[in-house]
Amino acid sequence: MMNVKSLNHRRHEEDAPSPPEDYSAKPSKPWPRPVDYLIREQRLMFVLLGMALATAFFIVQPGYFGNSDRPSSAARFFDREAETRIVVRPQVSTVPAVFSTGAKIPLGLRRKPLRVVVTGGAGFVGSHLVDRLMARGDSVIVVDNFFTGRKENVIHHVGNPRFELIRHDVVEPLLLEVDQIYHLACPASPVHYKYNPTNVMGTLNMLGLAKRVGARFLLTSTSEVYGDPIEHPQKEDYWGHVNPIGVRSCYDEGKRVAETLTMDYHRGDSVHVRIARIFNTYGPRMCIDDGRVVSNFVAQALRKEAMTVYGNGKQTRSFQYVSDLVEGLIRLMEGEHIGPFNLGNPGEFTMLELAQVVRETIDPEAKIEFRNNTEDDPHKRKPDITKAKKLLGWKPKISLREGLPLMVEDFRRRVFDNGENSR
Ligand SMILES: NC(=O)c1ccc[n+]([C@@H]2O[C@H](COP(=O)([O-])OP(=O)(O)OC[C@H]3O[C@@H](n4cnc5c(N)ncnc54)[C@H](O)[C@@H]3O)[C@@H](O)[C@H]2O)c1
Repeated sequence: MMNVKSLNHRRHEEDAPSPPEDYSAKPSKPWPRPVDYLIREQRLMFVLLGMALATAFFIVQPGYFGNSDRPSSAARFFDREAETRIVVRPQVSTVPAVFSTGAKIPLGLRRKPLRVVVTGGAGFVGSHLVDRLMARGDSVIVVDNFFTGRKENVIHHVGNPRFELIRHDVVEPLLLEVDQIYHLACPASPVHYKYNPTNVMGTLNMLGLAKRVGARFLLTSTSEVYGDPIEHPQKEDYWGHVNPIGVRSCYDEGKRVAETLTMDYHRGDSVHVRIARIFNTYGPRMCIDDGRVVSNFVAQALRKEAMTVYGNGKQTRSFQYVSDLVEGLIRLMEGEHIGPFNLGNPGEFTMLELAQVVRETIDPEAKIEFRNNTEDDPHKRKPDITKAKKLLGWKPKISLREGLPLMVEDFRRRVFDNGENSR
């Protein structure tokens, strides 16, 4: 009978000579095991190479991972933010963030162009903003329902691959992939805003979009949130004196609600927001005859009609030229502060003084006609812009006497052109 033990072993094992007592299957090594492994497998070279690459990356992109608490959904957005030389903290506290992270990209690295949506971009302010964004190389999507805006205001960009124009009413939701949202869509003159619920629904939809795609959102609010102010001049921490049931309240209260929604999306959903409170602004491309005082006076003087002054003409306003406003909006969007910020020209004029400047610019013979004042017309309005000066490094540069002739040139062309452009 065959030996049972031999059945359990393979033949070569049986034949192999038995190893010496101190035998080891692995050769002895001069280095400890991990070091030797690194050297033999050339891992060391890879480790060193990796370290060199990581070092180079951190030198080029300082502060890139400095904000580990950034929401991951906004990673692409912040990547671009870093290249605008500003790194933004997630501003989820109830206190507006006012401190810089200090991180900057080195000189010589160009910022990547952004994709920016401008709602109301075919309107007066919006179209000037679009011009600036296009000029700096961004891709711009204008969303407008042309309620008060005109295609002519942006027609010069049509055909540019970086420009898109979408006819859309912002009271309906819209999905776009963008980095920044300038939300201007809202009729701004009394004759138009009385018929439009844009402020609340439009702002809600655009905040929803900002939240979904991690875009930064800027609301163009208004000095009207101060109502008929008891404080003068108005600072941002003044809460206002607004009639909640008056004829103007759909606009005044609408913008106040829009500000509330903006801050709620910021606090509750970490949306990166900015709020501008715009004071009276004038310039080329304003709607003719829309009930705003500067456009009214200019159009009337050009047509040789009497300028209509409501009330006794002693009520005051401050008038800002549109390019100053656009500069302020861009600084606010690119900066590190939520706001709200007053953006306006503190030069204060009574309506009669304004009429006098219009006379000097257009027609010294122009007449004035007094009418009963409109309901809830604020008696005075003048921005305190200390905050914008300090935190945005912004102040208006163009005086009324410098800016008005630029607007008159544009109005003259449109008033005497009876076609499409005369709106
Ligand atoms: N110009 C000022 O003096 C002034 C002052 C304070 C605040 N603002 C604010 O600035 C923004 C721009 O004002 P503006 O003077 O250029 O006014 P505008 O009327 O010329 O522009 C508003 C634009 O929004 C568009 N729009 C209106 N409702 C819309 C909707 N539901 N969907 C899509 N588009 C819509 C209009 O067609 C127009 O193109 C407004 O939000 C306004 O409240 C302006």
